[in-house]
Amino acid sequence: MNGDITQSQEWAALGKHHEELAGRHLRELFAEDPGRARRMTATAGDLYLDYAKHRATQETIGLLTALAERAGLRERIAAMFSGEHINVSEDRAVLHVALRLPRDAELVVDGQDVVADVHAVLDKMSAFSDRVRSKEWRGATGKPIETVVNIGIGGSDLGPAMAYEALRDYADAGIAARFVSNIDPADITGNLAGLDPATTLFVVSSKTFTTLETLTNARVARRWLVEALGEDAVSKHFVAVSTNAAKVAEFGIDTDNMFGFWDWVGGRYSYDGAIGLSLMIAIGPERFREMLAGFHTIDEHFRTAPFEANMPVLMALLGIWYTDFFGAETRAVLPYSQRLHRFPAYLQQLTMESNGKSVRADGTPVTARTGEIFWGEPGTNGQHAFYQLLHQGTRLVPADFIGFAEPHDDREGMHDQLAANLFAQTTALAFGKTAEEIAAEGTAPEIVPHKVMPGNRPTSTILAPKLTPSTLGQLVALYEHIVFVEGTIWGVDSFDQWGVELGKKMALDLAPALTSDEPPATFPDTSTEQLIRRYRELRGR
Ligand code: F6P
Repeated sequence: MNGDITQSQEWAALGKHHEELAGRHLRELFAEDPGRARRMTATAGDLYLDYAKHRATQETIGLLTALAERAGLRERIAAMFSGEHINVSEDRAVLHVALRLPRDAELVVDGQDVVADVHAVLDKMSAFSDRVRSKEWRGATGKPIETVVNIGIGGSDLGPAMAYEALRDYADAGIAARFVSNIDPADITGNLAGLDPATTLFVVSSKTFTTLETLTNARVARRWLVEALGEDAVSKHFVAVSTNAAKVAEFGIDTDNMFGFWDWVGGRYSYDGAIGLSLMIAIGPERFREMLAGFHTIDEHFRTAPFEANMPVLMALLGIWYTDFFGAETRAVLPYSQRLHRFPAYLQQLTMESNGKSVRADGTPVTARTGEIFWGEPGTNGQHAFYQLLHQGTRLVPADFIGFAEPHDDREGMHDQLAANLFAQTTALAFGKTAEEIAAEGTAPEIVPHKVMPGNRPTSTILAPKLTPSTLGQLVALYEHIVFVEGTIWGVDSFDQWGVELGKKMALDLAPALTSDEPPATFPDTSTEQLIRRYRELRGR
């Protein structure tokens, strides 16, 4: 839909429905409808979603899917998959889904055979990864590579870092990966500690190859290497991932050792392409391709399943339901998997850089609340930290619980304990415990109010057989499409990120004021002036 979705009759119908439903408790909804749990599930690939513990009924889902129709979601999905320039503010196609198309698929966009391009890069990555993994590729002194250090930030870091942690059990070639992103020198110093330059390979990952943090860290790494092994060693210890060959060459990396991608892949949607090189070296090309197949399974589900059975669509619409009708501020993502400890951080960039917008694609101001704030930590750690607020606080925090049936290795039944905690938490959040139930246990009357568990706290549970390359790909694609659906309903351009530019430029402008011998005559404002003067004093300048 062009224009203001909040003016549509579908939005108004949801508003009215919210008034009717907001006072109802999940206990009642379950009591009234015995078939609810069976019906309110969805399956996509290996992912099973239970959304029965949501403050929603079949009617809610009908109204929400009508809203999606009204927003033109069907047409938007078709437009994305066919390579239309739906990133309007940058006039680009949005084709991360092409990164996982099988070799025999067909997609020509702007006159270019996208599938052939994608597979040419994947083949080059695979050949290189195999050489490193088989020890055929050797460092300047003839030693094989033992550690890959990815230098990148944002989408050029969070994806491969998250996935490497998630898939550590598959890192079978004895090659470890490390990730350096921050311009805080502590990051690179910490990550270089204990490394032998002779066995270290740097992958400098930057879509633009102009990002200050990445280029600065890459220069530090280069100096570290050259001091130990000399200038000639660079070609054996540095490769690049970028869309910008000229800048890669300017930095001094041979473009034969560059792995490319395209402007139609957003940074936060890029780790399933060349940005995943460090991951591919660690887990091997075959596992990497299994991950891509997992992504593709969910892409196909998203593209073809009817909305009422479409997992990303359902989860996105429930996100809209809570954000725009219940006024929820955030969504917690709670993986019951230690391996997914970086997953919430990864999702933060995916969702907040995509949908943190206040104008619609046509430049007019939005009138709905946009941009879900994702946050979280793995269970059970979160239980002993912030779940108190989820259970008894005054805010509504919808949560996604993610669990796996099979562990990679188990000890003394620990995995079953982990799963039991997941199921227990969603039950306690949904149904709580009443004052009567607590009093009946013999609790002193003055203590009863403290122990009441209000319940009615909505959760999704995603259950998968095992955390594998494929299921990880499926999970990531699921959230990518959730972000897409929400962006479509809100009418924003989910694929630009102009909001990060001003701060970057200001940092460049301000840097001389911190370091020059003489403080500058003018500062941008009095508060910043005071802070910079204080900083200079503390640094003895
Ligand atoms: O500053 C935001 C951003 O542009 C992200 O969108 C991107 O993932 C990150 O910086 C890194 O950019 P690049 O890959 O070009 O170094």
